[in-house]
Amino acid sequence: MGKLLWGITTLWAITQLPFSVAAPNCPLIGPEFPPPQRLSEHPIWQAAVANVTAIFQYIDVSNITGIDTFSYSLQIFSTNPGAPILWERHRTAKDLPADTTGVKKVDGDTVYRLGSVSKVFTVLAFLAEVGDVHWNQPITKYIPELAKYAGKSTSSEFDNVKDTNWDDITIGSLASQVSGLGRDYGVLGEYTQTEKLPDYWNVGLPSLQNTTKPPCGAWPLCTREQFFQGLDVMYPSYAPWQTATYSNIGYQLFAYALENITGKKFTDILNDRVIKPLGLNRTYYDTPPDSVGVIPGTVKDTYWNVSLGDASPGGNMFASANDISALGRGILSNKLIKPSLTRRWLNPVTFSADLIASIGAPWGIRRIQLAKDTQPHRTLSVFTKAGTFRKYTAFITLLRDFNLGFTIMMAGNPALNNFYGADLLGATLIPAYQAATRDEADKLYSGRYVSRDTGRNGSYVNSTLTISVDPGKPGLGVGPWVSNGTDMVDMAIKLQAGTDRSALKAETRLYYTQLESKTKDGGKRQAWKAIFEDTGGPAAGQQLWSTDCGAWVGVTGITYASLPLDEFIFNLDSAGKVVSVENLALRTKLYKVDGPVKGTASANP
Ligand SMILES: *[C@@H]1O[C@H](CO)[C@@H](O)[C@H](O)[C@H]1NC(C)=O
Ligand SMILES: *[C@@H]1O[C@H](CO)[C@@H](O)[C@H](O)[C@H]1NC(C)=O
Ligand SMILES: *[C@@H]1O[C@H](CO)[C@@H](O)[C@H](O)[C@H]1NC(C)=O
Ligand SMILES: *[C@@H]1O[C@H](CO)[C@@H](O)[C@H](O)[C@H]1NC(C)=O
Ligand SMILES: *[C@@H]1O[C@H](CO)[C@@H](O)[C@H](O)[C@H]1NC(C)=O
Ligand SMILES: *[C@@H]1O[C@H](CO)[C@@H](O)[C@H](O)[C@H]1NC(C)=O
Ligand SMILES: *[C@@H]1O[C@H](CO)[C@@H](O)[C@H](O)[C@H]1NC(C)=O
Ligand SMILES: *[C@@H]1O[C@H](CO)[C@@H](O)[C@H](O)[C@H]1NC(C)=O
Ligand SMILES: *[C@@H]1O[C@H](CO)[C@@H](O)[C@H](O)[C@H]1NC(C)=O
Repeated sequence: MGKLLWGITTLWAITQLPFSVAAPNCPLIGPEFPPPQRLSEHPIWQAAVANVTAIFQYIDVSNITGIDTFSYSLQIFSTNPGAPILWERHRTAKDLPADTTGVKKVDGDTVYRLGSVSKVFTVLAFLAEVGDVHWNQPITKYIPELAKYAGKSTSSEFDNVKDTNWDDITIGSLASQVSGLGRDYGVLGEYTQTEKLPDYWNVGLPSLQNTTKPPCGAWPLCTREQFFQGLDVMYPSYAPWQTATYSNIGYQLFAYALENITGKKFTDILNDRVIKPLGLNRTYYDTPPDSVGVIPGTVKDTYWNVSLGDASPGGNMFASANDISALGRGILSNKLIKPSLTRRWLNPVTFSADLIASIGAPWGIRRIQLAKDTQPHRTLSVFTKAGTFRKYTAFITLLRDFNLGFTIMMAGNPALNNFYGADLLGATLIPAYQAATRDEADKLYSGRYVSRDTGRNGSYVNSTLTISVDPGKPGLGVGPWVSNGTDMVDMAIKLQAGTDRSALKAETRLYYTQLESKTKDGGKRQAWKAIFEDTGGPAAGQQLWSTDCGAWVGVTGITYASLPLDEFIFNLDSAGKVVSVENLALRTKLYKVDGPVKGTASANP
């Protein structure tokens, strides 16, 4: 025990210096509570949805944003119990040409161009077809045109400035934009391919031989051969894995690699693995009939019928809001890939210069602080992909831990930025979702739980606990928590710290692990993790190295005969009601005796 105690004490010292206590709670990352069963019936959610409607009604009629010049489709989707679409709003631009060949009125089935939102389809198709086992393999293994570069990066002639290090460009680096490759070849941003620029723009630029200019781009499209010849001319921006730099070229190579691995056409994989299984009847890789889309101008001006050819996996696709929302739900519910692969996928791969933003494949990921000033460690990670294609913008964001997402599609001359649209939705809906979830958790779990075991003299053992949902605090609060007369909230801190000193303010809070199993009687067992912390002292705040939020290091840090003190299992009956709670280390079952408890409750059984 002496040795173990030393171990615990050292760990505690490492994670808690320089202050041994912290004011805000340090939750485990992930959902605090189980998903709400009746979100759309909750009055706060209903009020939030009404507010969102009011905000967009205001935007629509006020004309402050030049709303007449673009059409939009917005949806809030969910995989929680209840309707898959929680709210939607569609508006048709007033300046849609009277003779438009597209739809006259937009709705959930109206098709928009997706631009780079296509990349979500591309990565999902790859993962659904072959998983991510090839992720760390060099791209040279899967692309014949690049095979000749294998091993070149270690030769003495290799020029770090001029030559691309193809040996180190892996499939995963392409998916998460850390290949260091240039963004595009021959298209977007290629000045020699850009039409209708004023002559004086050319003055500062040298005149070039035609042979120096890309022979292809948006028109004519580059052949595969021309594309690889073009790559030979280009310089790397960075070494692979150095820093994130967005590359559409990377997505073209990524799709070529998938074709090489499988021997199938990319479009077949996309159709068989994503579009058909998700039932996406308004999703297209190439230009669909005009009649299904919103076309705010001529097909030429809007680029409705422009094709990116082999560069299409990075941005050519078309879909309706209904289909983008169905895609989002398919991802959140692991419909096409196994849950552990989704969990790995919905994570950051590399940093960005923005502290709260990182980059996945192809996600832009942000950490939203749910109570910035009072509980800075409570966060929600959101996974977003936005796209632009001339007159079109598209946007999908997944609020993973809430099982929610937003779809934002626009066509025309949008005066409203798609990210700003998400800000508007999130600012109202995120607090409402939390309030509804906490309320449901309060009704379900809060109350007193008592032992039904009797001691040797025949009276009940003094073992009880009280569960509550506390304003301004994350997860479920535990306490008073008494085991055979001992105050366990205080004892847990002592065991964790390895000292007999009482905490200034001992807290035990529970977080939903999402681990559940069904019981024979139709009920379920549901595991929650406890964090034991002393929140009585000052916060460490923003130090260089030290933190007051290292709770993840201490999980299962106290065990009693192999079972941890920090695991609580709730037993629910077939009607979904909580019957009892067990603590694994204590090996006791405490039965729920009454309803929600607000504030402090009596410890007497
Ligand atoms: C709705 O908007 C009103 C007025 O701005 C505000 O007082 C209220 O808190 C909002 N409710 C929700 C749930 O967003
Ligand atoms: C709305 O704004 C646009 C552009 O700002 C303008 O052309 C149009 O006349 C306005 N419409 C109304 C009804 O005020
Ligand atoms: C895949 O690419 C490798 C070289 O990178 C090549 O040797 C192989 O023949 C290709 N396979 C297919 C099916 O195209
Ligand atoms: C270079 O290309 C331009 C535009 O395609 C063409 O007009 C011109 O004749 C070409 N010049 C030469 C020397 O081939
Ligand atoms: C697409 O499929 C869905 C679900 O099967 C259906 O409800 C919807 O009406 C279909 N839409 C079109 C445009 O066919
Ligand atoms: C797009 O449509 C325009 C006008 O109908 C036509 O001139 C052009 O060839 C089309 N482009 C493609 C790539 O189909
Ligand atoms: C039974 O024993 C417990 C201690 O194990 C004690 O607290 C309690 O008072 C006893 N009850 C009676 C009725 O003697
Ligand atoms: C409870 O504590 C008493 C001493 O106060 C002890 O005699 C008894 O065995 C304990 N009961 C259990 C179930 O551990
Ligand atoms: C049970 O134990 C708690 C904590 O030691 C104590 O405060 C309480 O009075 C005890 N209750 C009974 C009935 O003995």
